[in-house]
Amino acid sequence: MASFRLPRFLLLVSLANIAVVIHPVGTLAKSKNAGKQKHKPFFVFGDSAFDPGNYQYLDGVDQKGPLAYSWPYGQHFSSGAIGRHSHGRIVPDFIADNANLGLIPPCLAPGVNFINGVNFASAGAGVFTDNSGAMNMEQQMRKFEEVRAWFVHKLGAEPARKTLKRAVYLFGFGSKEYLSLYLSGRNTSKSSQRKYAEMVVGNITDAFLEIYNAGGRKFGFQNVGPLGCLPMLRATESSENAGACVEELNSMARKHNKALAGTLKRLGSLLPGFKHSIFDYYGALMDRIHNATKYGLEEGKEPCYRAKELNGGMMMNWEGNNWMEQYMLCQNSSLYVFFDGIHTTEAVNSQLAELMWDGPSSITQPSTLKQFFQL
Ligand SMILES: *[C@@H]1O[C@H](CO)[C@@H](O)[C@H](O)[C@H]1NC(C)=O
Ligand SMILES: *[C@@H]1O[C@H](CO)[C@@H](O)[C@H](O)[C@H]1NC(C)=O
Ligand SMILES: *[C@@H]1O[C@H](CO)[C@@H](O)[C@H](O)[C@H]1NC(C)=O
Ligand SMILES: *[C@@H]1O[C@H](CO)[C@@H](O)[C@H](O)[C@H]1NC(C)=O
Repeated sequence: MASFRLPRFLLLVSLANIAVVIHPVGTLAKSKNAGKQKHKPFFVFGDSAFDPGNYQYLDGVDQKGPLAYSWPYGQHFSSGAIGRHSHGRIVPDFIADNANLGLIPPCLAPGVNFINGVNFASAGAGVFTDNSGAMNMEQQMRKFEEVRAWFVHKLGAEPARKTLKRAVYLFGFGSKEYLSLYLSGRNTSKSSQRKYAEMVVGNITDAFLEIYNAGGRKFGFQNVGPLGCLPMLRATESSENAGACVEELNSMARKHNKALAGTLKRLGSLLPGFKHSIFDYYGALMDRIHNATKYGLEEGKEPCYRAKELNGGMMMNWEGNNWMEQYMLCQNSSLYVFFDGIHTTEAVNSQLAELMWDGPSSITQPSTLKQFFQL
């Protein structure tokens, strides 16, 4: 796989060199003269963990359908539920706040100003293209092209190019591919799982290299979390193993994360100016699930918002089916790791965002998003 992809990488490197030659050191000198922090937009790509409410603008979907658009989702926002898969802020909200950018608008919101960045994430989005109705990665990249045109129209070609070069790009993909593979019930060997992970990472790489070729340089990645420990997946374990993490899924996530880290390391030395930051979501979330009290939390396993009977795993909130007439809502979500069967609470999102923002390097490396925004 690696050797197969290499020629493409090399081609991209040579394209990048041309860009570097055309725009020599003048940019640097100028930004020094400017004397103040330059405006850096924030662009977010991913699935429901990062979705700021794009679903409501999609064609052909039942706008009232998804759970994320009704109480208790979004209860911490004065406007009420607005499509975030939590009761409050999600990780990109905290990052944008730290970077003094305010809330980053959904890419599909009509008539909004994109100058501080855009969030393309879409609940249910995968790396692979399917007919789920979500904006998959490929469609998010096409939307990015439209936004790039918006910047050129707004600022002019050269300032737009510089702005997109200073911008910070965050990617959070992969969960759907491993959940789909696992839930398909196929018996896959370790080596085919590894090949699968390499393909998923290869596809993600193609996507962010498009942005690199368009001038983007600072890329943050959230790796794939401990999928087998999500409450929804735990609930699928048979009675003898009831409530345990699904180790096979965790193992798939780890294979993905290893492939991602390897690819980024290799690219870092191949692509001029390419900078990356990997946030170890897997490790940070696993720690909170097993050591909740260490982080000021009380419940690491059960979700705050759930069905009265926790049997039948697929009955957990999954892709926003509003089936939960008999639900339980915890008293204080700030004490829970999980809000629903898949998504984390605002309290945990805030902690995760801080780690993504400023490390430590055991969790976020080799750069942090804070460094990207200060650079
Ligand atoms: C992912 O990569 C595989 C193998 O290179 C390719 O066949 C497939 O079309 C890619 N899918 C997407 C959505 O890019
Ligand atoms: C899965 O496949 C392996 C060999 O590829 C076999 O040893 C194992 O028994 C299979 N497991 C199930 C549950 O079918
Ligand atoms: C839980 O905390 C202990 C002590 O800090 C640590 O050794 C362990 O690795 C943590 N568990 C997880 C899953 O991170
Ligand atoms: C919820 O828990 C947090 C963290 O312990 C605490 O600060 C807050 O006061 C609690 N809120 C309520 C309503 O009990």
